[in-house]
Amino acid sequence: MKNTTPDIDKYIIHTKKNIQQLTQVERAFNTVRESLSVAVDEVANLQSKGGAIVPELSYSSIANGAVSTKDIQSIKQRGCVIVRNVFARNQAEDWNNELGEYLDTNNYLERAKEKAGLDDYFGDLKDAKPQIYGVYWSRPQVMARQAESMATTKRFLNRLWNTDAPAGPEFDPDLDYAYADRTRRRAPGDTTLGLSPHMDAGSYERWVDPAFQKIYAKIFSGELEQYDPWAAAYRTQTREYESPAVSSMFRTFQGWTALTEQGPGDGTLELLPIANSIAYVLLRALQKDVPEHELCLAKPGRALGVDQQWHPDLMPAIVPIQTVAPGDTVWWHPDVIHAVGNEHHGDDYASVIYIGASPACNKNKAYALKQAECFKAGLSAPDFAAENYEVDFKGRATISDLTDLGKQQMVL
Ligand SMILES: [Fe+2]
Repeated sequence: MKNTTPDIDKYIIHTKKNIQQLTQVERAFNTVRESLSVAVDEVANLQSKGGAIVPELSYSSIANGAVSTKDIQSIKQRGCVIVRNVFARNQAEDWNNELGEYLDTNNYLERAKEKAGLDDYFGDLKDAKPQIYGVYWSRPQVMARQAESMATTKRFLNRLWNTDAPAGPEFDPDLDYAYADRTRRRAPGDTTLGLSPHMDAGSYERWVDPAFQKIYAKIFSGELEQYDPWAAAYRTQTREYESPAVSSMFRTFQGWTALTEQGPGDGTLELLPIANSIAYVLLRALQKDVPEHELCLAKPGRALGVDQQWHPDLMPAIVPIQTVAPGDTVWWHPDVIHAVGNEHHGDDYASVIYIGASPACNKNKAYALKQAECFKAGLSAPDFAAENYEVDFKGRATISDLTDLGKQQMVL
């Protein structure tokens, strides 16, 4: 459920006073800063030596239940993971070609120009090729979402969370709903849209929303060692303010599937691979130098930004992911800061299908039901601009393309 309360300033002032009365926020922040500086140095060091920073698993190790405890610890510490070979390389390459044909045959670019203005992104991009394509229901997207190997991967990822909660399990890790998102096809040499460092799952909600306050209670009380980023309790109870930047589903991991090879320099993903770095962002905003009705970069309707001015100690740990191949997948915790490189210096398109993990719970089911109606009609998914390009697209996936698992994931 989305929150529409408009008068946010007074909630921010009230919340800040409350926390500041209970906690010595300056001391808490200094403790977090010291503790995280060790982690930041470690990441920056590894980066300078060219080491692999994002933990990596092979899909077969997940399918065979052979992931080591050490690997699990490292994923939990880093808050991100690359799972290789969830799909065979040729399968991913075929999907990439098919998706390209789907966009071409249906004159996507011309239609996008006609509709320019509906989505802010296209407002500035009337002549350039877009980087993000507002299609949700191409066959490759639907096939990748409903694949058994994808379901197995998401089950593993969902199970990294502790689902214990006062009112019973917070979600069912074994059933994941589809969250239909768009696709990125970034042309070589493209300089149009880097994304500065940010988090997606909520901005000022993270301070003022009662469920988020419970999730982050140990951070706000200055007891960082007792904060567990993988405790799921209350995570599906948060109420997000209306915003085009926030997902209506709770995701255990955001993620994408690579359709082409991409890595450092290719204008692709950068991560801050420290799962509890949110503690720095939360406590930083409560310090004396931040105006009383502000929370650093938290703004209505925007992703929560992180920058050099407010968060200088974190910036050295924002690093590009290792090179991934077609069929590999990348996943990151909803509190993990991420960015997209400004410029694509590579020779080929950098293409991905966005697929996160969104396990079964009341919040996600409510959205999945609305989403299913959009699927049937070929409309844009409910969280996104209502461009509705695909209504009469040839080759769009329909219910007859769904497997039994695919129907279950779509609540159909
Ligand atoms: Fe993002």
